[in-house]
Amino acid sequence: MATILDGRKVSKEIEKEIKAEVLSCDKNGYRPPHLVAVLVGEDGASKTYVTAKMKACEEVGFKSSMIRYDDTVTEEEILAEVDRLNDDDGVDGYIVQLPLPKHISVEKIIDRIDTAKDVDGFTPANFGKIDQEHHSLLPATPMGIIELLKRYDIETKGKHCVVVGKSHIVGMPMSILLAGPGDATVTLCHIHTKNLEEHTQIADIIVVAVGKPGLITGDMVKDGAVIIDVGTTRVPDSSKKSGFALKGDVDFATVEPKASYITPVPGGVGPMTIASLIMNTMIAYKKRMNF
Ligand code: GUN
Repeated sequence: MATILDGRKVSKEIEKEIKAEVLSCDKNGYRPPHLVAVLVGEDGASKTYVTAKMKACEEVGFKSSMIRYDDTVTEEEILAEVDRLNDDDGVDGYIVQLPLPKHISVEKIIDRIDTAKDVDGFTPANFGKIDQEHHSLLPATPMGIIELLKRYDIETKGKHCVVVGKSHIVGMPMSILLAGPGDATVTLCHIHTKNLEEHTQIADIIVVAVGKPGLITGDMVKDGAVIIDVGTTRVPDSSKKSGFALKGDVDFATVEPKASYITPVPGGVGPMTIASLIMNTMIAYKKRMNF
């Protein structure tokens, strides 16, 4: 029986710690941190994520704002919004929720974000400092995973970590964080990897972020492995009020009995991403206020 890595519980602990800091700022007469989210279009998952991020802000006492555009918005309009947010002294951090409509270049938008306000940790300047001791803002999901491992005293030093998926948001920065500060031996697998199971079967820690429900099955993991599931695919489920269920990339039923620790979906990595966003906003705020 694996221990469940309870991201919901840990994120609540982190939010409590941040809330105490916000209260102390308030007592000393300072304004609260302010996080802005830019949401383009009507993608259901994106709306859910952004709503959860705004709710977390409210819970810790941050000011939060959501700026919405419909999916006919032009790239120039989003770039102009980014410029406005960069110049706004009352904004400590902001995110542009991805994915964006195809006619908008994600690269151009990210390149334009002020690195000091880049609480997603997506800009080249922040990304380039991931493995440095004095890093800036770390990418939120990998940062949340590292924090979750730390709070369960799971050592990465000298471990063989297999990361599956090489996205800019999760897999790529995750592999750098594990190999750099984490001192792990890392294998980065992806869509073109041959015989994926040959890699996963020898892993001490597996982080999977590809969006393919049930990709990792029990026969692909060794006894005692730590399993981190970043997948959140919506699959139709008539028993749910929403009409869908969230499915991870790990086949929980066959993997959990072999694992030592495992994240559930939902309630594992997702809440930790939000907690990291809150932590990054606090870091950006303190720098802006010269604390
Ligand atoms: N889309 C999926 N995950 C993320 C995230 O962490 N940040 C942003 N901005 N968009 C996302």
